[in-house]
Amino acid sequence: MRPLLSVFGILAACCLQRDPAQGQAGPHIPDSARAWWKEAVIYQIYPRSFKDSDGDGIGDLRGIISRLDYLQSLGIDAVWLNPIYASPNDDNGYDVSDYRSIMKEFGTMADFDELLKGLHARGIRLIMDLVVNHSSDEHQWFKQSRSSRNNPYRDYYHWWNAEDGKPPYRYSLFDINHDAWMYDSLTDAYYLHYFSRKQPDLNWENPKVRREVYDIMKFWADKGIDGFRLDAFQFAAKDTTFPEFPKGFEKDFTRYYAMQGNLHGYLREMNREVFSPYGIMGVAEGAGDTLEDAHNLVDAHRKELNMAYAFDGTNIFKPVGPRLLRLKEAFDRLDSSFGSSGWLAVYLANHDMSRLVSRMGNDRPAYRELSSKMLTTLVMTRRGTPFYYNGDELGMTNAGFTSIGEFRDVPTLDAYRREQKKGGDLRKFLQKIQFESRDNARTPFQWDGTAQAGFTTAIPWIRVNPNYTAINAAAQQNDPGSCLNYFRQLVKLRKQNEVLVYGNYTLRDRSNPRVYAFTREIKDHRMLVLLNFSAAAARVRPGVQTGRAKLLLTNYPSAPVSRPGEKEFSLRPYEACIYSL
Ligand code: GLC
Repeated sequence: MRPLLSVFGILAACCLQRDPAQGQAGPHIPDSARAWWKEAVIYQIYPRSFKDSDGDGIGDLRGIISRLDYLQSLGIDAVWLNPIYASPNDDNGYDVSDYRSIMKEFGTMADFDELLKGLHARGIRLIMDLVVNHSSDEHQWFKQSRSSRNNPYRDYYHWWNAEDGKPPYRYSLFDINHDAWMYDSLTDAYYLHYFSRKQPDLNWENPKVRREVYDIMKFWADKGIDGFRLDAFQFAAKDTTFPEFPKGFEKDFTRYYAMQGNLHGYLREMNREVFSPYGIMGVAEGAGDTLEDAHNLVDAHRKELNMAYAFDGTNIFKPVGPRLLRLKEAFDRLDSSFGSSGWLAVYLANHDMSRLVSRMGNDRPAYRELSSKMLTTLVMTRRGTPFYYNGDELGMTNAGFTSIGEFRDVPTLDAYRREQKKGGDLRKFLQKIQFESRDNARTPFQWDGTAQAGFTTAIPWIRVNPNYTAINAAAQQNDPGSCLNYFRQLVKLRKQNEVLVYGNYTLRDRSNPRVYAFTREIKDHRMLVLLNFSAAAARVRPGVQTGRAKLLLTNYPSAPVSRPGEKEFSLRPYEACIYSL
């Protein structure tokens, strides 16, 4: 499938843009090492907040259909949709009650079919979210399972009979008490839930469960989808002796929960059953606790998944000084390990984190656009497949919620209640979630300057960010210097220069506390990327010959301060420059 050349791609003569194809490398990569999912830019859509078509305040599939031309105009190759299956929405669709039907608020199966067709017609692939570490407690399987100890679905989930005593402590990420065992009086037993009480964990050790999941995957693969993102799958297999979780290590839960039991065996089975025969892509959320764990998921000879996204580095807030050094170290470590085998997804933001520019950049008016573009540059130029979150291409910011009543995310609200119960400082806690809560990234997409940002004609399910009057797609569409058009330029640059996909990555000026600098290189084609992470001017020594450097892209409207050939480059606040060397 070949994406059509977008009208907007041609239109966007953003900033100081030279011909991005300049210095184009020849075909250095053998066909056997190429893959569409390595070359793709994947755009994540949070359907609940993208576009409402029927005036109920909730985004839906027809809303996405109405924005297909926008998606095409971005130049992206694939869309990853957060879950759209039937769900009581305890966790915004990550609690599935029927894997073969569409959530009522999102539309119908006919809408889905039309969406898939519309994407494919524009050369855009579709990746679905597969949530099978757990289901909803309202799924038929669980309703049956909890109904009696003898029910044939009993061992679809993990149960602990009360007569065996209280089960050893297991940590739950989302439970209000963080207790992963929930007592159910109906059968006098506890069920396991690593996430919320309404998300009971499926028993992957049961071959019937696995068969059900592969059948579900085939149902969607038969429709023609192009891949699955495996939600929280690193936790799917369990040590079913359920040893006590060591108290105090809750932040390290991945070390105790990931890659247990026969997880890799299940993935190989899934690959044999679905990924290989259908030729579709699989990407894991989470990559275990060690580099070896990550390799075991994605190394091609293992025939499990194609890529995974490692969380390393992405949770570093405002990376300047020692924090920038840690960020660089984390990414460098990943790249050196995956440069020769395996493949990683690259991201800095998604629906589980606060907004990129607010968290890692600077959302004050003077720097919002510059720092947003600088961060986008990093996502699009590292080695690996970029996963880019909707709204970041506009430089959307944190929500600016002023009271707890405006938050919607259950774990955020639970954490607030816990704080309340223990008599904590609620003002301080509110400040913390104003900065950190994942609700910040879930406010409606800002389409234009009309009421509710053009997202809906009703009251939206979560408040629109009041800055929509200034920050919106319509305002940025024809502005060559906008974040939106900068993103389009970067997508184009990446596509026209395979060095940005396959080229080796070398960190430069490693100990520089303000600037992230690196080169990408394939045979005789080399690019230099310079990113100033600070709000002050900074200097960087790239340590490479730059005499013949040609500027390909910068986030500033005027030429860089330094001239090619200088040993040390000066960068303005949050400046990003890409040179061809
Ligand atoms: C993943 C999802 C997150 C969800 C959780 C439970 O981490 O990205 O949104 O809450 O899994 O399904």
